[in-house]
Amino acid sequence: MNVIAVTNQKGGVGKTTTAINLAACLAELGKRVLLIDTDPQANATSGLGGVIAPGGSLRPVLLGQKRLREQIVSTSFPHLDLLPSEIDLAAIESAFAGSDSPLFHLRNALQPLREAQDYEIVLLDTPPSLGLLMANALAAADLVLVPLQCEYYALEGLSKILDLLDKLGTVGEGSRVRILGILMTMFDVRTNLSQQVVEDVRRHVPHLLFQTLIPRSIRLAEAPSHGKPITTYDPSSVGAVSYRHFCAEFLARLSA
Ligand SMILES: Nc1ncnc2c1ncn2[C@@H]1O[C@H](COP(=O)(O)OP(=O)(O)O)[C@@H](O)[C@H]1O
Ligand SMILES: [Mg+2]
Repeated sequence: MNVIAVTNQKGGVGKTTTAINLAACLAELGKRVLLIDTDPQANATSGLGGVIAPGGSLRPVLLGQKRLREQIVSTSFPHLDLLPSEIDLAAIESAFAGSDSPLFHLRNALQPLREAQDYEIVLLDTPPSLGLLMANALAAADLVLVPLQCEYYALEGLSKILDLLDKLGTVGEGSRVRILGILMTMFDVRTNLSQQVVEDVRRHVPHLLFQTLIPRSIRLAEAPSHGKPITTYDPSSVGAVSYRHFCAEFLARLSA
């Protein structure tokens, strides 16, 4: 079982869009996939048509009141399950007060699934803040996938997240998180800026950059309001084709 956190401390860079659509592409290939929504905003939950039910989130799992497995729901997409979020997750920081190891709740909760190998791939959608929820996701993950928006400050954001991962990799008992790669999102073929940003990232971290560029596409932005991944909402759109292409690259790198 591979656990991959989709992370960037910046909001609006395509974390949730990537988590949903990568999960759907993997499931389409017959992989058993679990998407865990660790963001109180619950965008991945609603984007997959999941119902946001009080008490139905990760919160009781992180508090040790329920087993992770009990909170998993199936989606209308074969092979794709979801652990929903809801706004009650936002208060987890204070609920963790007094916990000896507040960073390792999610990692511990995932252990039975690792042992049973219920899923081949677990994706963690993360909130855009450096709080305990993101830290729990990073501590639970084997690998990190960093979506980076093609915009002027992309490189600055990248060095922040690389620094953070570097620190997490060297502190904390048994931290072992590694970067799988960087995915450029909202690429606009018509602008020099997009090309320039991709070139800059390629120059800085050639080994990390995925070849696939996710284009800016209105269909990708529309799909969540229908509760569907792009592969179902508009299966032959450029967004669907791009995420499928990325999925193949992702799998190749995962097994490399
Ligand atoms: N490739 C894309 N093309 C167009 N809009 C996109 C694309 N990726 C994401 N969006 C939109 O941009 C906004 C932020 O994306 P989101 O995935 O929610 O980012 P994050 O989870 O990092 O905050 C959302 O409204 C989303 O629909
Ligand atoms: Mg998000």
